[in-house]
Amino acid sequence: MEKIPYDDILSIQRKVNIVDVIAEYLPIEQKGKNYFAICPFHDDHNPSMSISPEKQIYTCFVCGASGNVFNFVMNYERISFSEAVFKVAKKAGINLNVTNVRKTVSKESKYEKFYKMFEITSKYYQNNIKTVYGKPANSYLNKRNISDDVIKEFEIGLSLNDNNVGKLLESKGFTSDEMVDIGLCNKKDKFIYDTFRNRIMFPIHDTLGNVVGFSGRIYNGEDESKYVNSKESVIFKKGKLLYNYKRAMNYARDKKQIIVVEGFMDVIRLWTIGVRNVVATMGTAITKEHADLIRRLSKNVILCFDGDKAGEKATISAIEMLEKIDIKPKIIRLEDDLDPDEYIIKKGEDKFLNHLKNAMSLLQFKLDVGKGKTDFNDYSDISNYINSIIGELEKIDDPVVYELTVKKLSKETGVDTSTINSLIKNVPKKERKIVSKFSTIKKNKYIMAEEYLVHYMLKTPDAIDLYQNNVPYLTDKNLSQIAIKILEFYEQNGYVNVTDFSLFLQDNDELIKEVLRIDQIDLPEKVSNEVIEDYIKTIDDGIIKREITKVRQKINVEQDVAKKVVLLEKLATLKKKECK
Ligand code: CTP
Ligand code: MN
Repeated sequence: MEKIPYDDILSIQRKVNIVDVIAEYLPIEQKGKNYFAICPFHDDHNPSMSISPEKQIYTCFVCGASGNVFNFVMNYERISFSEAVFKVAKKAGINLNVTNVRKTVSKESKYEKFYKMFEITSKYYQNNIKTVYGKPANSYLNKRNISDDVIKEFEIGLSLNDNNVGKLLESKGFTSDEMVDIGLCNKKDKFIYDTFRNRIMFPIHDTLGNVVGFSGRIYNGEDESKYVNSKESVIFKKGKLLYNYKRAMNYARDKKQIIVVEGFMDVIRLWTIGVRNVVATMGTAITKEHADLIRRLSKNVILCFDGDKAGEKATISAIEMLEKIDIKPKIIRLEDDLDPDEYIIKKGEDKFLNHLKNAMSLLQFKLDVGKGKTDFNDYSDISNYINSIIGELEKIDDPVVYELTVKKLSKETGVDTSTINSLIKNVPKKERKIVSKFSTIKKNKYIMAEEYLVHYMLKTPDAIDLYQNNVPYLTDKNLSQIAIKILEFYEQNGYVNVTDFSLFLQDNDELIKEVLRIDQIDLPEKVSNEVIEDYIKTIDDGIIKREITKVRQKINVEQDVAKKVVLLEKLATLKKKECK
């Protein structure tokens, strides 16, 4: 979706109260001038999220989650920023056709018509299955252990050979071109036919819960293709949708975990045994968009694809996609080539739940796959196996897990642990950890001065002026970005306050969090220019110190004498500045 203009976001935000919006999602209680709630973004037991009506901001004191009303809706519902803006606007009763949420809204309302068409059709299909014409389909589903309640829950329907969808939509004022565009009807020699005939219909929803497509399954005879899907359209892109996303969302949040399967029936079967934090890829290879959607639901992912070879291949490629966005899924592999639906029917729910409880680690899965491919009588095969796993070994942070894994690998292959160890490109693990710790602990006075300056830049134009005229740059990457953005905001709007500035940052969640953290540093409300000038002096000292270090490093490695002299002169100048 396009970026929404700041002014539009601001005008929507002004019309809602964050307290009311959050109260729709969570129980809240008032304490003094603020409100408190159990934080939904971590495993909270006491209300640690505070909501400020004054600032229109929420902040969790424990996990640090914070932001404005749009950030809340975006993070809670796990939707995109523009979807959240759209949703909040709706809540506020803002007529989206007259507001200026220009491009996004005009695009959304253009689709509104298509959503309506799918909704009408879905209702029609759902009704069919309850009629006398629906008897065979109904008993097919019941035979597969799908009860009427589940049929209702998943809005499962039935298409008939009656061409009634076209007629129905026509009676509601939709044109045949529109029906053909979104694939509900086909055109043949000027005649319009319903696309789906005599199939059990599974509606497919987008992340907001609109029906945007169907998949129809045969149920009387197996000679045709098993599933027929809606054709790709502006609202139906199979590679960007996950089946059951909307319904699974809250369960995924509660369980702090999302299970990914291949098919409709897998999702539905798991639902019937009470496992509801499940989405399906609908048989396609997992795309980048799928991976992003999965991450929105939880970072704790379990892949449970079909137990056959194709399912193993799909698992491997899904892992690759997920690892790109820093997700290390766990894996379930079902025996006897079964898919989760068949597995539960044939082997029982307990056996499946056991698999779920003991899902394999990614490393274990990779070891298993590698082992399965290896002929242990073939030395070069063994060598390939070990080398294919080296990358994984290097990623192990826990020395105990590392040692046990290498020992096991050694036992399996007959290759000495010392040989395996020698293959590891010694990325020294301990050092890696220290480096990352160091960077978070190291908050010296220079960085603190930068934080204090930015704190006041969020409050007073004087601080912004002083920054603009006297500070070459801030050494902390985030702070530097924030300062530049504050200046930009101030130049465009002629004022600054933390709430509006957070709106200006749109979906830049991390930066917003940092801004709100800086805003909450406990400093006096009023500040004189002298104090700010002091901060700037400290920042300057920090910059000089940093440059001195850099020049020193250059001097150490410089071979060319003339260049070295230049560097030494530069060092002298910096030193002089430092003393001032
Ligand atoms: N699929 C599809 N189009 C097809 C075949 C499959 O969209 N022609 C998708 C469906 O979402 C299906 C999933 O891929 O649920 C997995 O396919 P498959 O394993 O063949 O079907 P099952 O889910 O096992 O369906 P069923 O149990 O009804 O046979
Ligand atoms: Mn199946």
